[in-house]
Amino acid sequence: MFEEISSKEAKQTLMFIFDAAVDIEMEKDQTIFVEKVLKHARRIFEAPAGSIAFVDGDFLDFLSFQNDEIDTSSISRDQNGDDLRIPLNHSSIAGHVAMAGELLQVDDPYHLSESVPYKFDGSIDKLSGFKTESILAIPLRHPTEGIIGALEIINPKEELVHELNLGIAKSFAVMSAVSIINMRLQESLRKAYLETLARLGYAAEYKDEDTFKHIQRIRYSSKILGRELGLSIEEQEGLFHASAMHDVGKVGIPDAILGKNGKLDADEWVKMKSHSNKGASILRGSDTEILKLSEEIALHHHEKWNGNGYPDGLKGEEIPLAARIVAVADVFDALVNERPYKKAWPLQDALSLIKNEKGAHFDPQVVDAFFNCLDEILEIQEEHQ
Ligand code: C2E
Ligand code: SIN
Ligand code: SIN
Ligand code: SIN
Ligand code: FE
Repeated sequence: MFEEISSKEAKQTLMFIFDAAVDIEMEKDQTIFVEKVLKHARRIFEAPAGSIAFVDGDFLDFLSFQNDEIDTSSISRDQNGDDLRIPLNHSSIAGHVAMAGELLQVDDPYHLSESVPYKFDGSIDKLSGFKTESILAIPLRHPTEGIIGALEIINPKEELVHELNLGIAKSFAVMSAVSIINMRLQESLRKAYLETLARLGYAAEYKDEDTFKHIQRIRYSSKILGRELGLSIEEQEGLFHASAMHDVGKVGIPDAILGKNGKLDADEWVKMKSHSNKGASILRGSDTEILKLSEEIALHHHEKWNGNGYPDGLKGEEIPLAARIVAVADVFDALVNERPYKKAWPLQDALSLIKNEKGAHFDPQVVDAFFNCLDEILEIQEEHQ
């Protein structure tokens, strides 16, 4: 059946497969992944345009429109700026393919036979002046989940629509569907994991609503300080999630000490300070980056730049950067808010303390970052009161 395929074409096809596999295998971002799937599917047929849509309940969401000849930015969104969405039924070409699960070749979409259930929606052509001459619609079939969407290849080159390429396109669609489902699973696991982490952080101190707010403020402030210090987006996200756990060791401190309305005596203070080591030991031994970072923060967020902090008396850059960042966020938040043992300080007094402790309690660079983004830090205080 492949007699007509020349070895040059076969070679080109192989190159295509390798190229596409490497390009999309590496992609971790779901949106970009979907764009790449469509781009490579179009390349098989040298098609100027295409779209990709995913089943969402009773609807089909068009996640990407590509057209080399017209600007698609206005057509790929509805009036509200959301993804274009149509009912999942047989009346559209993409819908039909997603329901029937069969590859469909439509040669002249403007003159469809009366016997087919679908109609061609020519509104995009009308808006753009583009002319759809033929459509190759391919279901995105997952081996166990069924059809998860549909690819439409618009105006494929006629001589490239042959059995070999159709077979490749179908396999490519299956491979893409598998990757997309894996990415969704990973994303939901990741979400569940991060949410569990944050909940544990709240649970540790969860005596009241205030603690929840305190942790939210620490997370947002730490992330902003990280950004201001030039950390990467991943590191900022890491700080956001890991800082939620800074006081998780307080689960091991008696309520009578935590909630004491007054100064701690020497014995209580020893117990209180143990929350750093207790927290670290709860978090220790994981090989995920987030938990490792959480452990460092829990252990070292009360170290001081001058070496006078606890539990290890680390000095300067011996203290992990993430812990130096959370230290500033934590103390500022503790000062401007009420605690069982203290009233909220006036803002100016808190700012003076942060400034005075530059190079003593705090890393000078983190203090500079703090004042550079003070407006944002104060906004966070207001938003999470
Ligand atoms: P926290 O209440 O979240 O306070 C975090 C940090 O903010 C403190 O760490 C300290 O560096 C700073 N901070 C809070 N309030 C003040 C203040 O009035 N003055 C100054 N100069 N700094 C303040 P620190 O001292 O290592 O305390 C760790 C935790 O121990 C506190 O977390 C709190 O839960 C508890 N704690 C500390 N002192 C007392 C106290 O006198 N009474 C009670 N009941 N708990 C205390
Ligand atoms: C659309 O582009 O809105 C739907 C195209 C189709 O008929 O599948
Ligand atoms: C996560 O699911 O984001 C945690 C994995 C890691 O940080 O390595
Ligand atoms: C960070 O990811 O926030 C910096 C890592 C560190 O130095 O602890
Ligand atoms: Fe603490």
